[in-house]
Amino acid sequence: MDLIHKFINIVFPIVSFILFIYIIPALSLYRLLRFCIRSVRPENIAGKVVLITGASAGIGEHLAYEYAKHGARLALVARREEVLAVVAGKAKELGSPEVIVIKADVSKLEDCKRFVDETINHFGELDCLINNAGIVITGLFEDQKCITDHTSIMDVNFWGSVNATHFALPHLKKSKGRIVVIGSCGGWFNTPKVSVYNASKAAQQSFFDTLRLELAPDIGVTIINLGLVDTRLATTEFIYETNLDWAPMLSVQSCAKAIVNSVRRGDEYLTEPKWMHTVFMWMLFTRELMNKARHLVHAKRGKTKLHRQKSRTSGSLQPLDLKHD
Ligand SMILES: NC(=O)c1ccc[n+]([C@@H]2O[C@H](COP(=O)([O-])OP(=O)(O)OC[C@H]3O[C@@H](n4cnc5c(N)ncnc54)[C@H](OP(=O)(O)O)[C@@H]3O)[C@@H](O)[C@H]2O)c1
Repeated sequence: MDLIHKFINIVFPIVSFILFIYIIPALSLYRLLRFCIRSVRPENIAGKVVLITGASAGIGEHLAYEYAKHGARLALVARREEVLAVVAGKAKELGSPEVIVIKADVSKLEDCKRFVDETINHFGELDCLINNAGIVITGLFEDQKCITDHTSIMDVNFWGSVNATHFALPHLKKSKGRIVVIGSCGGWFNTPKVSVYNASKAAQQSFFDTLRLELAPDIGVTIINLGLVDTRLATTEFIYETNLDWAPMLSVQSCAKAIVNSVRRGDEYLTEPKWMHTVFMWMLFTRELMNKARHLVHAKRGKTKLHRQKSRTSGSLQPLDLKHD
């Protein structure tokens, strides 16, 4: 048995390397052609029923506006009903023929069942489920006084999308619909002080990649990998604490537009901004180097005390008052 592994250890990398030389350019060309064809004839989503979790703010809110512009019917879910009502009003003004709002907490199993049931009771069908609701808590793992403080991240980001998907599946199967997952590059580009958040996004990616295989060809799955987007989640404090102040932010409007275009093309994955693909390559081929670089940045920043100054204007960071010990 060991001999077999020794043989495979030597032969498989060599054969793979030779195959990659031919396969990667061919696959890139195929992807480009598919992108062009699907961009010319994207899916018509007018009248389609789209359920968006976390639609009261940020990316979810702007996805609602983008879907509304294309004439989709919407079920908007979040915990703050009064804010959802305002989003629903604007979505109707932008062109959605019908919008319902459902106050629910995605971390509660019974709420997930209820918002899917209410959507079906109202519209009679479901074409697309967008698992967007998410939260983040920052801090060093070793500083956590109570380990259970961070389980809510997993409950919302991971279990919230898994549970909602569980109840939506029979309806999506009927409509040959689609699941959209709003993931994060943090799932593979790990930054310090958001360990549980990053883990929740990695778990989400792995779960929905597996589900894609189980559900094809009846239900499509689009996984979105996002860098920093200008929402209340990516606060100035969050960005500085996680040493991400070097990274330019995407506007939430262009992010929502890119997501809807990607879903209409039937993409399996979307990474925004696109240059994060190159960061992925660095992570893949020079992992030790990337770990060292991120550790050095983190160690340097560890000696720096942040004076929490939450002032921020949309799209641009205000300088923070940094003081050394
Ligand atoms: N912003 C970024 O830089 C970034 C980067 C990568 C990935 N993402 C992902 O994008 C998604 C949206 O984030 P965002 O930036 O738009 O954040 P946001 O502006 O804070 O919006 C989060 C949304 O989720 C809802 N929500 C939170 N907890 C919920 C719960 N338990 N049940 C139901 N709804 C809940 C919030 O509404 P209520 O408070 O009314 O419930 C709100 O509508 C998240 O999954 C996040 O991980 C964001």
